[in-house]
Amino acid sequence: MLSSFFELRLGDCLAGMQALAPESVDVVVTSPPYNLGIRYARFDDTASREDYLAWSLRWAAEIRRVLKPHGSFFLNVGAAPANPLLPHQLALRFSELFVLQNTFHWIKSITVETKGGEPISAGHFKPLNSPRYVTDCHEYVFHFTQTGDVPLDRLAIGVPYADKSNIARWGHTGGRDRRCRGNAWFVPYQTIKSREKDRPHPATFPVELASLCLRLHGVGEGSFVMDPFNGIGHAALAAAECGVGRFLGFDIDAGYLREAQTRLAAKGIEAACPTPLPAVEGTAVRASQRGRPRKQAGAGAKKAAPPAEPPGP
Ligand SMILES: C[S@@+](CC[C@H](N)C(=O)[O-])C[C@H]1O[C@@H](n2cnc3c(N)ncnc32)[C@H](O)[C@@H]1O
Repeated sequence: MLSSFFELRLGDCLAGMQALAPESVDVVVTSPPYNLGIRYARFDDTASREDYLAWSLRWAAEIRRVLKPHGSFFLNVGAAPANPLLPHQLALRFSELFVLQNTFHWIKSITVETKGGEPISAGHFKPLNSPRYVTDCHEYVFHFTQTGDVPLDRLAIGVPYADKSNIARWGHTGGRDRRCRGNAWFVPYQTIKSREKDRPHPATFPVELASLCLRLHGVGEGSFVMDPFNGIGHAALAAAECGVGRFLGFDIDAGYLREAQTRLAAKGIEAACPTPLPAVEGTAVRASQRGRPRKQAGAGAKKAAPPAEPPGP
């Protein structure tokens, strides 16, 4: 018998969050639309920059209201070569409401050289054919809190020392082979055969990314986790993996919520939907267009297919 309560609500997260009690949520892990022209099934991702920032500040203020004083708000946001300032503009606006406690770099693909000079590449590298921009291999995860001093469980996502002599050298290890992971997180996408079948959404983050956030904050059966921009439920799946007791996700798209429900069911979680999810005619057709920015937003535009070089700023 599961003691968890997972809920997926169809509708606008702003209105949905307004109905929640203040200071009730422990952790928010989310990735909003980036306003980079991604082809969502039911969301127009092409507002003016000012309208987008004003809208973002409204939903962020609701997150601030419902977050517990020692809660954490993890915001995943990426850029595009022609829109490099977007994540920073958002972070600056949100600093009116929160303290930026940590900044993480979600590394999607990387090449490092071994000591012998041999290059090793990992992750999926999406080439960009441009004389002026380089391929965008990362996104941000901004960690906002109300006070800037929320204690974290750093070693919950810690890694073993490469040089084991450090275990004895540093007193703070207590003899344990575990050090802080740092703020560069290499989390590649899983390889899929068919986007429509295996990941039917144009802009997801990996479950592992959300899981790192949740484990770093520290969650369990007594925790309430929320994702206002649920998509196909990768934060919900991470919450399930981490043994979270209560999860609430919002999305305006019934098709994405259905997919989230199916994925949770495969993990043994029966997610409640207070409003029955209507049949979504034509989602499969729209899905075939997903992953392409509406406008030429630029490569690295979040999780989009590699486009031609975007127009310059
Ligand atoms: C970047 S995606 C989130 C994907 C999610 N992290 C995942 O891995 O599946 C943003 C989502 O926000 C949804 N959305 C857009 N406007 C919304 C609103 N006002 N309220 C709730 N959801 C909204 C879109 O339908 C889209 O699924």
